[in-house]
Amino acid sequence: MFLFTKKGDVIMKVSFHGHSVVKVETKGKTILFDPFITGNGQTDLKVEDVKPDVIILTHGHGDHLGDTVQLAKEHDSLVIANAELSTYLSWQGVRTHGMSIGGAYEFDFGRVKLTQAFHGTGFTTENKEIIYLGMPAGVLLMAEGKTVFHAGDTGLFGDLKLIGERHPIDLAFLPIGDNYTMGPEDAALAAKFLQAKQVVPMHFNTFPQIEQDPHRFIDLLEGQNGKVLQPGESIEL
Ligand code: NI
Ligand code: MN
Repeated sequence: MFLFTKKGDVIMKVSFHGHSVVKVETKGKTILFDPFITGNGQTDLKVEDVKPDVIILTHGHGDHLGDTVQLAKEHDSLVIANAELSTYLSWQGVRTHGMSIGGAYEFDFGRVKLTQAFHGTGFTTENKEIIYLGMPAGVLLMAEGKTVFHAGDTGLFGDLKLIGERHPIDLAFLPIGDNYTMGPEDAALAAKFLQAKQVVPMHFNTFPQIEQDPHRFIDLLEGQNGKVLQPGESIEL
């Protein structure tokens, strides 16, 4: 069957759910980024109300991995993550698809490409061990000519320009919390580098270390269109 898309049709509905939780609804599928719901004081979601077909993880830190294992097992969700993290999750009985930075893959809901992120990643056990969980990433999700970029956790880096040049981005989610990631000033420059049509701040106010006024980030933007989304609000592309 061939689906015609008219101009003005909604291709993706993209919702922000606090911290780095982003939901994309496209082609009848629900795709959830970094589903940190339990213990996330910024989210409007309840674990029992979410039914993701697909979960995409930027990295393995607890505030991104979140409720992935429970959700994936309950709903037979496909979990897309870097190769090490996806192997680690497959050992827990989760259906996974491993990728690496720079690689793209065509899924039935769209094309996913992992990009660089400057950050750490690891799972800390009760025995004071840290399990390495691969390279942290940003994620490009492309469907029918629309592109959403989820930057994951990262500091500012110059190759965000390259990502923006290679991929016209309609909507970018950028961390602004500082301390663990870019702060508002660096995130504003990241927005400029990416040349995204719209940018939305994420990864702030969840913990005392990342308290920020997201409107200050919007004020710092130079020529980019920025919007603060309240948890539960969405943008249609
Ligand atoms: Ni992190
Ligand atoms: Mn984080």
